[in-house]
Amino acid sequence: MERKWWHNATIYQIYPRSFQDSNADGIGDLRGIIQRLDYLEKLGITAIWLSPVYQSPNADNGYDIADYFKIMPEFGTMADMEELIQKAGQRGIKIIMDLVVNHTSDEHQWFIEAKKAKDNRYRDYYIWHDPVLGHEPNDLKSLFGGSAWQYDEQTGQYYLHFFSKKQPDLNWANPKMRQDIYKMMDFWIDKGIGGFRMDVIEMLGKEPDKLISTNGPKLHAYIQEMNQKTFGQHDLLTVGEAWSANPEIAKLYSNPARHELSQIFQFETTFADQAGDDKWHTKELDIPYLKRTLVKWQKALGDEGWNSLFWDNHDLPRAVSQYGDDRIYRIESAKMLAIVLHLLKGTPYVYQGEELGMTNCPVQDISEVNDIESQNMYAEEISKGAQKEDLLAKINKKGRDNARTPMQWDKSLNAGFTKGQPWLHVNTNYPVINAQACLEDKNSIFYTYQQLIAYRKQHDLVVYGDFTEIETGLDGVFCYVRQYQGQKLLVCANFTNQLQKLSLKGFPLLKAWIANYAEGVLDLSQKVLKPYEAFACEIKD
Ligand code: GLC
Ligand code: CA
Repeated sequence: MERKWWHNATIYQIYPRSFQDSNADGIGDLRGIIQRLDYLEKLGITAIWLSPVYQSPNADNGYDIADYFKIMPEFGTMADMEELIQKAGQRGIKIIMDLVVNHTSDEHQWFIEAKKAKDNRYRDYYIWHDPVLGHEPNDLKSLFGGSAWQYDEQTGQYYLHFFSKKQPDLNWANPKMRQDIYKMMDFWIDKGIGGFRMDVIEMLGKEPDKLISTNGPKLHAYIQEMNQKTFGQHDLLTVGEAWSANPEIAKLYSNPARHELSQIFQFETTFADQAGDDKWHTKELDIPYLKRTLVKWQKALGDEGWNSLFWDNHDLPRAVSQYGDDRIYRIESAKMLAIVLHLLKGTPYVYQGEELGMTNCPVQDISEVNDIESQNMYAEEISKGAQKEDLLAKINKKGRDNARTPMQWDKSLNAGFTKGQPWLHVNTNYPVINAQACLEDKNSIFYTYQQLIAYRKQHDLVVYGDFTEIETGLDGVFCYVRQYQGQKLLVCANFTNQLQKLSLKGFPLLKAWIANYAEGVLDLSQKVLKPYEAFACEIKD
């Protein structure tokens, strides 16, 4: 496989609204990010995936774009953006822009035009349908609740919106629309960005008449065209968000021979505590499923694709809350998760605050919730007679605001995020969990991440080595070996808060180069793993 800069890279995701406020209006901004570049450089990351910073009315916090060529004034100016690209670049950090082209805001000029009349030249940039027997054209549902069709009085037709009604879906079957998107992408490529994260890319090939929302028949033709017309000639990272991907689908996107994307985000591992299709319906973490899924993806792609590796992002609960223990063993389990993920094959992503072990942030009342997805679910379920307490419990477990509370920098007012009134509450645990405390403690989670990120840069073994799971006979324990040109790396992790008796034959006495408990010599033939214990050792033959 041809070597790429993003093969040994680690990407850090910033949710700009919550990262760092620089002007005391309570909202994170680009100048705030620039102020924190030293911190990111110290962590050692190669690139920042910036959640959307474009002009937007914020119905979905920037995932509803009104102007792709303008920066949201709350976040700063185009000059700030250029300065961020330049100053990050000086530190060897690239900027990956979020590309949201499945839909725009209803306040985008194209939609404002399209709404005016059936014969408007932008009408076909979106998807319109006559009513059927006075009702919605069909049963397609919005992912944020209710019908995916919204009636427009003025022209007497429905438009399609797979997300909120303020996010009308673009019509990818329209070649003029596609050309305009490609021009916009070139505008950003010319600014010197490092690539694109592509929002719900799996939906571009939608065929609503056939009730097809994801993986439509034209999807890959569109992506190939996009590649050819825009980023294909440049050395960029492109990562598509694909909730429905399995390994076969992942190969369609990321097999280099197909000239589509560098990699995708697949979400199968994130379903390990989900019971059925409904994200709000959860069960206890299913560790055997989690292990099986990790192993499956490590083995499946081979040279026909590349994995992304992540535990959390702005749509998911905090990693340590979902997969670890965010109370007694918070530090141990956060480090365990880092060790397991960062030594797998693929490109790791760190979501802001994950490197501090930031936790979910429960609310007492729906009035404290900002996220449209949680709000809509709550309203819909209340109207069906559900109990407030049950719904809040679901939101506290899976709601997207958990990951969106402000970054915890230090123990000063509002965790050092803002000198004003933060747009979303700060987690009350900030006096204990914050960046300054981590930086001052050489045993902190932060330095575990730093060590892992640096190790990947220096060791082809982690980047290109083969993966083999080691069977331990213990459900709660995950062990694997990476192997490359006669070198071996063993990784062992306890995913439970219980002691686990490990007994592996055939390993020499080892010393860990990274671990979450102080370790001497490790005898794997009789090793009792402590709660959430994890370590990695180099094995010399
Ligand atoms: C993606 C984004 C999510 C957003 C949705 C609609 O899933 O990650 O935050 O709400 O797309 O753009
Ligand atoms: Ca601000």
